[in-house]
Amino acid sequence: MAFDGSVVLLHAFPLNAEMWRPQVEAVPAPWRVITPDLPGFGNSSEAPVTAMSGMAEHVLRTMDSLGVERAVIGGLSMGGYVTLALYRLAPERFAAMILADTRATADNEAQKEARRKMIATVRAKGATAVADEMLPKLLGATSQRERPELLTAVRGMIESTTPDAIAAATEAMMNRPDSTSLLASIAIPALIVCGEEDVLTPPSDARALNQQIRDSRLELLPGAGHLSNLEAPSGFSGALHDFLTTLR
Ligand code: MLT
Repeated sequence: MAFDGSVVLLHAFPLNAEMWRPQVEAVPAPWRVITPDLPGFGNSSEAPVTAMSGMAEHVLRTMDSLGVERAVIGGLSMGGYVTLALYRLAPERFAAMILADTRATADNEAQKEARRKMIATVRAKGATAVADEMLPKLLGATSQRERPELLTAVRGMIESTTPDAIAAATEAMMNRPDSTSLLASIAIPALIVCGEEDVLTPPSDARALNQQIRDSRLELLPGAGHLSNLEAPSGFSGALHDFLTTLR
């Protein structure tokens, strides 16, 4: 399958493709950065889905519709869960992989219980309550202190997400399978990125990915939390660009 320089970046929960704007602006031609909205999010007209495999199938359909056979495919956090689900479905569509602020393990019982509470919260109180709960964890301590405009922008993305999309994606994350055993089969180059201040998927998760994916490199970004591409945009885009350059 041909690789034409396409780079597919999948967004975090409960954001949308807009979060990739710094990378879309920073990665030069001939790379072609494609940032789909996952079903139910952003400008997507598709109904929300309650399984990671359903989100991965949506990404495959998007690639098909754009005539992209193989691509560098990656995502941040939930986008990383979708990336691993997609590798399980169609490894031949990958030229390389990017896993940012994410993990391969499934939810444990405490995390599943927190997901059930999140579904109840969004059903009862809407997306604003989800933003209130998640914002202190999505952005790192440095951004909380120094980037009020980023807090406002991320809150705006969360509040524009429908309760149905939030509930469906929460269910999909809660039920995602453990992908740890998949990591040893990843036979393409991989870039692992993580904010040093990430409290949701901390650097220890990124180190585990780096240890288990044979041809992988790890970039830890100082001063950034979970949304590392927004919190350290030039560090993230630089790591991405350097990685892409190795694939030429
Ligand atoms: C995300 O950023 O996509 C979510 O925080 C991931 C998760 O809740 O597991």
